Amino acid sequence: MAIDRRGLPDGLCYGGDYNPEQWPESVWHEDVALMRAAGVNLVTVGVFAWSSLEPRPGVFDTGWLARVLDLLHEHGIRAVLATPTASPPPWFSRLHPDALPVTADGVRLTHGSRDTYCPSAPAYLKVARAVCAALVERFADHPAVAMWHVHNEYSAVCHCPHSTAAFRVWLHAKHGTLEALNDAWVTAFWGQRYGDWDEIGTPRATRYLANPGQDLDFRRFCSDALLAAYLEQRDLIRAAAPDVPITTNFVFGAWVPVDHARWAREVDVVAIDDYPSDAGPAAEEQTAFAGDLARGWARGEPWLLMESAPNLIYTPGRMHAKEPGRMAAHSLAHVARGSRGVMFFQWRQPRGGAERFHSAVVTHAGFDTRVFREVAALGAHLRTMTPGVPANRTALLFDAHSWWALQGAGLPAPVDYLDEVRAAHKALGGTADVVFPGEAVSTYAVVVVPALYLLDDAQADVLRRYVEDGGTLVVSYLSGTCDEHARVRLGGYPGALRDVLGIRVEEFHPLAEPVALSTRGKGMFWSERVHLQGAVAEVTYDGGELTGLPAITRHGRAWYLSTRLSSDEYTRILTEIINTER
Ligand code: GAL
Repeated sequence: MAIDRRGLPDGLCYGGDYNPEQWPESVWHEDVALMRAAGVNLVTVGVFAWSSLEPRPGVFDTGWLARVLDLLHEHGIRAVLATPTASPPPWFSRLHPDALPVTADGVRLTHGSRDTYCPSAPAYLKVARAVCAALVERFADHPAVAMWHVHNEYSAVCHCPHSTAAFRVWLHAKHGTLEALNDAWVTAFWGQRYGDWDEIGTPRATRYLANPGQDLDFRRFCSDALLAAYLEQRDLIRAAAPDVPITTNFVFGAWVPVDHARWAREVDVVAIDDYPSDAGPAAEEQTAFAGDLARGWARGEPWLLMESAPNLIYTPGRMHAKEPGRMAAHSLAHVARGSRGVMFFQWRQPRGGAERFHSAVVTHAGFDTRVFREVAALGAHLRTMTPGVPANRTALLFDAHSWWALQGAGLPAPVDYLDEVRAAHKALGGTADVVFPGEAVSTYAVVVVPALYLLDDAQADVLRRYVEDGGTLVVSYLSGTCDEHARVRLGGYPGALRDVLGIRVEEFHPLAEPVALSTRGKGMFWSERVHLQGAVAEVTYDGGELTGLPAITRHGRAWYLSTRLSSDEYTRILTEIINTER
């Protein structure tokens, strides 16, 4: 898509979340002057501003926002205009207690933070449409608006009666009959067979292990319910402002029930928020993966880093101040991976509120700071660069559904899917295109498939044809184990990929301790009793019960890793495989 025609500034975008509603108007003038000094050309306004935009039910106050947009426009700064629906005002919660979310433990949450609503509650959806419509009516033609930003980080989960009813409707549409649902969820196990749709609930707290099919379908339902809420607002905006791009900022994490690969088809520009969870070198690895993943969601088009931390980043237990130069390094890593710019959360550090110590460009100390100087230096640098999108010959396959399924209980060992994928990405040198199950991969010389636990027949066919057509496939343990309903494929692992890989796995041997391999160091965490059915053993186990049996196999161009290699050995083997394809 030609984004530039639809509103974003030329060149690279630079700026961040701007919350003028938290400050007197006198401060706004200092803000725009500082933005100019820092090279800022784009700011996001309106996120969470609902109680300022609709102070009383149905009474809108958009005047202050109009003055902000006018001021930005006068100073040549464009705006990403957000709808505020991630944070309903207190009056909403008081009037509609049934729209407050219920946790899996059955606790109804109360007002006091953000994201406190049920995405399936009719009252919530109604007021969300209304506030969106009020913004559209007032600002559809405002010249400062470069892009619309619906909501903030869709991720809410709810187990209330509204959600339960909506889940049943979704299940009915998906499975058609109770018989099909019972079959998909294997409810014959533990006598869970359903005889009536009204017996089915969301996966709330239960006695012992939950049903994996129910868990997985609930995540998918949540993704679709949130998507429906997004689409309502998107379509309202699109009808009034057809030439302005519309997006929402994707947040990525184990708790997020959103299939971003699917959602990406519904946004005009993929936008991500990226906050590495580690302070050490893993922060750079996470940044690299996040950028490649965003480009994957964008299917090779430009995308936008919508939020990142200018300084302090959250790490478990304490915040970590980014060392001088590190903010720029992270920012440029995203630009190198196709981001159309660099945006921060947040412009001005608030004097109170839950995130008062979250880093900002203009801090509690003001603008005579190291951070402001670094931000301004980066702004100057970005003006000398032109946006671009890299292309790769190597792809990494990522699947949100497999991630969700692997978060469930009852697996032979706890599997950290994200860690598996990031380890593969790191072993690929921290750069690869990211692709999703079922999508064409024929343009790649090598496709790496880590722990792809769920695979339907059509998705398996894509990989099969890829190898038949001369592609090189590297698959790691657990891939192909289950079908799309998380039912185990019978006849031996890796189920759907046995023929492509020329092997049959008889049993899993999760490892408490690393085990020696004939070459390539040690196998960690996982091992398997692998039988060759056409493949050759490239590496064998050299310790423990599996001594002499295959650990790494090759069937023509299809490789299988039945254990986890050290980071160095993983890098080495993938490098060798890629080099033979050059
Ligand atoms: C994002 C969110 C922001 C802010 C930020 C803090 O997830 O969109 O509003 O909370 O995290 O890191």
